[in-house]
Amino acid sequence: MDASELNDHTVAAMKEKFIQEFGTGKEISFFRAPARVNIIGEHTDYNNGYVLPIAIDRSIVAAAVKRDDRMFRMRSLNFPEAVTASLDGLKYDLSKGWGNYPLGVAQVMEKAGIAVCGADIIFNGNIPLGGGLSSSAAIEVLMANILLGLTGTTIEKEQIPVLCKQAENEFIGVQCGIMDQFISALGKANHAIFLDCGTMDYRHIPFRMADRVAVIVGNTKVKRELAHSAYNQRVRECAEAVELLRKQLGRTEINSLSDIDSEEFTSCKKSLPDLLEKRADHVINENARVKEAITALENDDMKTLGALLLQSHASLRDKYEVSCGELDHIVESFMSCDGVYGARMTGAGFGGSAIALVPTEQKDAVIEQSAKEYKRLTGIDGEFYACSIADGAGRM
Ligand code: GLA
Repeated sequence: MDASELNDHTVAAMKEKFIQEFGTGKEISFFRAPARVNIIGEHTDYNNGYVLPIAIDRSIVAAAVKRDDRMFRMRSLNFPEAVTASLDGLKYDLSKGWGNYPLGVAQVMEKAGIAVCGADIIFNGNIPLGGGLSSSAAIEVLMANILLGLTGTTIEKEQIPVLCKQAENEFIGVQCGIMDQFISALGKANHAIFLDCGTMDYRHIPFRMADRVAVIVGNTKVKRELAHSAYNQRVRECAEAVELLRKQLGRTEINSLSDIDSEEFTSCKKSLPDLLEKRADHVINENARVKEAITALENDDMKTLGALLLQSHASLRDKYEVSCGELDHIVESFMSCDGVYGARMTGAGFGGSAIALVPTEQKDAVIEQSAKEYKRLTGIDGEFYACSIADGAGRM
């Protein structure tokens, strides 16, 4: 699938593939789930904090037909290996590669008492792999939609990301938060979602400037091997900081770093070891930045929003230490272009992508110039493109 959004051609081509692979006879259903970029609120979700992501016009689509024998036959046009598995006795299997993500979702749904079924499925996506735009959450949310669609089951839309996150935590073994699955399931065109990951309250915030401001993605084209283990390490460090701060402040009701505001943190941060102080500082002040970003977005104040993005990046680089040379260079490259409001890494970090907010009329110039500058700084051909804010997952 090409860079642009899905179209009738994609559906026709997938239908043909499906028939080639699995034969004809039954009516094929089509589903899609989008990738995301996070505007601001990074590494806050598993700390019960605030996030502000958007779903984008990069997605995974699936052509699916129900089977009656609890078997899955799955193929992805993005990977060489086909995956076959039974719903019975499912467990993580390295040799099943990408297939573990949808299989994990099937297992978690069944354990939760939701009707599931076997299926023949063809997947096809245009989310750059390893690009940090959460293709894994997209395929999880897509699978949940496929199973609900094929069995004719309805559940609360908000339950879908909860199940998908559970699949990633328990079946895959990555201690991620809920942001990626949530935005892929519940995104809305031309809106960001403000989600409080502690209470799970959320609201769609109109991106009224969508016609005047472009979101540019810059893919560093690097992905660090240590990403999963370093991510899980950050989760543990935050938990340790919570333990220490709870004791220090004598507030037994503190469950997460998000139960402490910037002011209270200033009064007690010196009680923490240096490393944990930096981690907690990032999370607590990032929550505050999300709140400010919402006000800026609601006032169409791109200058303030851009400044917040830069502060967020600096904090992720210096305090949370999840950036890398390439991400810093891509942000620098964006900021070397005229008119750019702000830029930051997006997602977990350690490679992947950064975003920039840019006046629409400057978009092409920024894409061209930042690509050149990034190449000059790193020797790498990055990938730069504008994205639009898309709807969350559903049947096509
Ligand atoms: C990854 C995880 C999310 C979130 C981000 C960092 O994308 O899947 O849950 O923690 O990193 O904000």
